Amino acid sequence: MISKEVIEEIKYRNDIEDVISGYVALKRAGSNSNGLCPFHSEKTPSFTVFRSSQSFYCFGCGAGGDVITFIMKAESLDYRGALEFLAKRAGITITEDERDKEQGVRRTRVLEMNREAARFFHETLKNTPEALKYLARRGLDGATIKHFGIGYAPESFNALTNHMHKLGYTDEELKTAFLAGISEKTGRAYDYFRKRIIFPIINTTGEVVAFGGRVTDDSKPKYLNTSDTPAFKKSKNLFALNYAKSHCAERMILCEGYMDVIALHAAGFQNAVATLGTALTAEQARIMKKYTNTVLISYDSDEAGQRAANKAFTLLGEAGLETRILRMEGAKDPDEYIKKFGKLKFQNVIDGSFTRFDYKFLKIISENDIETTQGRVKAAALACEEIANTPSSVEREIYIGKTADKLNISADSLKRDVNRLISRRTRKEQKEQTQKIIMESQGYADRVNPDRIKNLKANSAEEMILGIMLKFHEYIKGVNSGKFDLKAEDFVSDFSRKVFVAVTEAGEDFDIGILNEKFTEAEMARIIKMQVLREGLTVNDKIFADSVNTLKEAGRKNTLSIEEIINKKRNKTNNK
Ligand code: GTP
Ligand code: MN
Repeated sequence: MISKEVIEEIKYRNDIEDVISGYVALKRAGSNSNGLCPFHSEKTPSFTVFRSSQSFYCFGCGAGGDVITFIMKAESLDYRGALEFLAKRAGITITEDERDKEQGVRRTRVLEMNREAARFFHETLKNTPEALKYLARRGLDGATIKHFGIGYAPESFNALTNHMHKLGYTDEELKTAFLAGISEKTGRAYDYFRKRIIFPIINTTGEVVAFGGRVTDDSKPKYLNTSDTPAFKKSKNLFALNYAKSHCAERMILCEGYMDVIALHAAGFQNAVATLGTALTAEQARIMKKYTNTVLISYDSDEAGQRAANKAFTLLGEAGLETRILRMEGAKDPDEYIKKFGKLKFQNVIDGSFTRFDYKFLKIISENDIETTQGRVKAAALACEEIANTPSSVEREIYIGKTADKLNISADSLKRDVNRLISRRTRKEQKEQTQKIIMESQGYADRVNPDRIKNLKANSAEEMILGIMLKFHEYIKGVNSGKFDLKAEDFVSDFSRKVFVAVTEAGEDFDIGILNEKFTEAEMARIIKMQVLREGLTVNDKIFADSVNTLKEAGRKNTLSIEEIINKKRNKTNNK
């Protein structure tokens, strides 16, 4: 990885308050600064930046970390990406140490292999009449095939493998790139993609990062996709984003399939992208947000497609995207629609795109006979439910008007019903929220540190100890030099032990930034919390040594199993 010195330099030159104020309007309050949390929606500021420890913590949602964690979250970058981002911001060039170079080499090597493989598949397609015929039958012309670099993997176990061997790539490397599997019997590599049309997946910098392969008949599975490699993460890429990114300033079209995207681009809708054989992820939604403000969901019109569309709607909304649905009647997907009705008709579909409410309302009306009283009542109830789920009050107003008109019911009474639903839901949410906080404070459902509940006393001592070490690095030195008698084995919970090990291994020049690499976002937030809770407290050797003793004593007592805890709790309640 990038050397510790460079990371330190990057952090030093990116003051956390300075960086975060580019995202959040911060107000100084004493030695800290507050603002509205960018990671959850709130009306009163619970997001706090601690200047002295160069960290942030949100008392509302529990997000927390240092400037690197912040950038990872805010820019949806991985650890390395965040370091590069901050380095650039501060005008630092990143020099890499050897281990990192190796990683880089693996990635570069995979990308080289992919490029060679793409070339091989593309050439093979040119010489395979049946495959060309299949594509022609599906309406793809030569220009489109070339534009997308479409190829063909022949029906052979070693066509690509042999070709790549000649270019000097080893079996092991081919496996890493997911271009080959290794046979358990012979121990030799065999082609992963066979007898399939190949769609190269190209990232926004023009690198071939992966492939999708479709059968040309009815055999299964219909598609094979590259799994994650050192150069590719399925959940972070979108098919055709390399082209769509410069055509989507206004809006982007999100499809389910490769063929949909290809048909749309060929028809002039170059703002279309697709996920890669998986449901839309939050990461993909955030990536889309970087390039556009509005997403038109164009999923298959079958039930599965519509269910997926609903989920996508939520994720896209959470990423701050305006989202609409395309309704295609008489075709199962955009590919078929364009073939059947032409691009002008598809443009009409785009122009008449539906908001989620309009879309649902249409469905409600078609499923309930609004000529009857009963049908009208049912439709009104369903519509109110939908309206109550709309966050914007302006939108709610408009939808209430529409519903009133269509169902011939007064807007006032609809409004009352909607408001009743909203307050009922708010009450329910508040109750759930309180319940969750109680559960969490008691240590239940603690995913970061599931051991916590088993020995609360030992765990609070652990948190005190770690908090002090994180905040006052002289205590790391104290532990490492043997001034305090504390070892990894003394820790009761796995999580705390892992933190302890990471901190003591780093030693005197520990910086919280290095933990981003070893811990997840949720774990990171917990670590920051330990540190934050020590803010403003007096700390001295005695307090630290006392905590160590408390930990050891509490640790000697048997920790309880979850069953025992539940039984104990049950007995307590029964005795009341
Ligand atoms: P055509 O049937 O050729 O029109 O392709 P399509 O893209 O319309 O396929 P479909 O609507 O069946 O599936 C949508 C997308 O889901 C595909 O483009 C693939 O990315 C993915 N997919 C479909 N079938 C499979 C499968 O068997 N395995 C995997 N991993 N992904 C699949
Ligand atoms: Mn299709």
